[in-house]
Amino acid sequence: MTKDLMENKGLDDSCLGDSGLLRELSYIDGRWVRADSGAVFAVLNPADGGMLGHVPDMGATEAQKAVEAAKAALPDWRALTAKQRSGLLKAWYGLVLDHADSLARLLTAEQGKPLAEAKGEILYGASFIEWFAEEAKRVYGETIPSHKADARVIVTREPVGVVAAITPWNFPHGMITRKVAPALAAGCTVVLKPAEDTPLSALALAVLAEKAGIPPGVLNIVTGSKAMAAEIGTVLTTHPEVRKVSFTGSTATGRLLMSQAADSVKKISLELGGNAPFIVFDSADLDLAVAGAMACKFRNAGQTCVCANRIYVQDGVYEDFAARLAEQVRALQVGPGTQDGVQIGPLINAAALEKVRDHVADAQQKGAQTVCGGAPHEAGPLFFAPTLMTEMDETMRLCREETFGPVAGLFRFKTEAEVIKAANDTSYGLASYLYSRDLGQAFRVSEALEYGMVGVNAPVLSAESIPFGGIKQSGIGREGGRQGIEEFTNLKYTLMGGLAG
Ligand code: SIN
Repeated sequence: MTKDLMENKGLDDSCLGDSGLLRELSYIDGRWVRADSGAVFAVLNPADGGMLGHVPDMGATEAQKAVEAAKAALPDWRALTAKQRSGLLKAWYGLVLDHADSLARLLTAEQGKPLAEAKGEILYGASFIEWFAEEAKRVYGETIPSHKADARVIVTREPVGVVAAITPWNFPHGMITRKVAPALAAGCTVVLKPAEDTPLSALALAVLAEKAGIPPGVLNIVTGSKAMAAEIGTVLTTHPEVRKVSFTGSTATGRLLMSQAADSVKKISLELGGNAPFIVFDSADLDLAVAGAMACKFRNAGQTCVCANRIYVQDGVYEDFAARLAEQVRALQVGPGTQDGVQIGPLINAAALEKVRDHVADAQQKGAQTVCGGAPHEAGPLFFAPTLMTEMDETMRLCREETFGPVAGLFRFKTEAEVIKAANDTSYGLASYLYSRDLGQAFRVSEALEYGMVGVNAPVLSAESIPFGGIKQSGIGREGGRQGIEEFTNLKYTLMGGLAG
């Protein structure tokens, strides 16, 4: 930890205890290292633009070194028993819990979300480490009735090898543990490239992994600025020793990484963009639906892949729902995430704010009514006022693209068939939601929705125990659940012949 970083913007001892969690160096082969060039890039607090510190601006050479370190560490790591790997992961989990408050403060400082949400994310992230520490011991194979009398058929699961994980800024802790924990549990080693906006949470996790006794080279972290992302990404997706790429981020970047990984035919998992429909039928419990829309739409200032993007409300309850939602949207408190009672923090950067502003302006020009918000918020340059717009239609950008901001747009519909068609009319297929007290309708519609996940009268889908993921251009593969560890394994079929007496 450097003194500079400690003294900046309230990240002092009183916030972080004696945690030693602040690092301005990357972590490769069990060593805390600078970029070969000595270059660094700044990490900023989105709430006030304050400088939090500088981390190494690495590129292709350091990414290659990290892959080599991960390759060298692989034989010993995969040779441990599942119980041994599980023990190390449990030690890591324990340390994350012990430092939950400090990790949350760090997360809020670099990402902006309210402290209560940051604490929730630390526990959410830790739950993946705990879950996969257990699942490590349950990577079961099977035997299959043999097609030959003198042979037996055995199917086992083996670690894929070196994994490259590329993670986003919106959940700078949880999206790392959701990938790294199952990879390590399965016996893989990892090179992680965290998002350039939020590298400090990643480095703090490495501090705790080191302390937990996870051996050198098993987890490596390569930090890099936006300018270096393509260089690092190219190594991670083309290096022949990387056997699996796991990425969370935009569909455009996912498509590019997938095409780069195609040459060496790597295994791939992609958790990409969403454009979630949130459908409220006349039959819904409106209190539940309004509370659900608030939780689903405004968590993390609307910067989640699974948040409601298009809120479809049936004609019979449209006015009532809009009025109740408006009351709650107006009451949201906006400000720095460290301030008591704040529910909406800043957006991550200027580009994010511009996108939200463009989506709102586009909808306004095309006839949407702004009930509240609709403009940047006085709390600071990266804050956007919680916004509710009505009379949205399918010509608007908000209907077709992921907005990633605190903007709720209401679309009016008349029939079940009409809303199913509209909800599915997108290239995305991550999360979807419906509110109805009609059991038949709940089953019919959830089965008709072309999405990887459906919340029926339930606005928050995430948990360590479920297979999180999308279909269509929202991704490939699943994270979490028993399926999450399988993504980091290869099946091996062994035919044991010559067994006749
Ligand atoms: C995401 O936005 O990518 C993940 C959200 C979650 O895990 O709940």
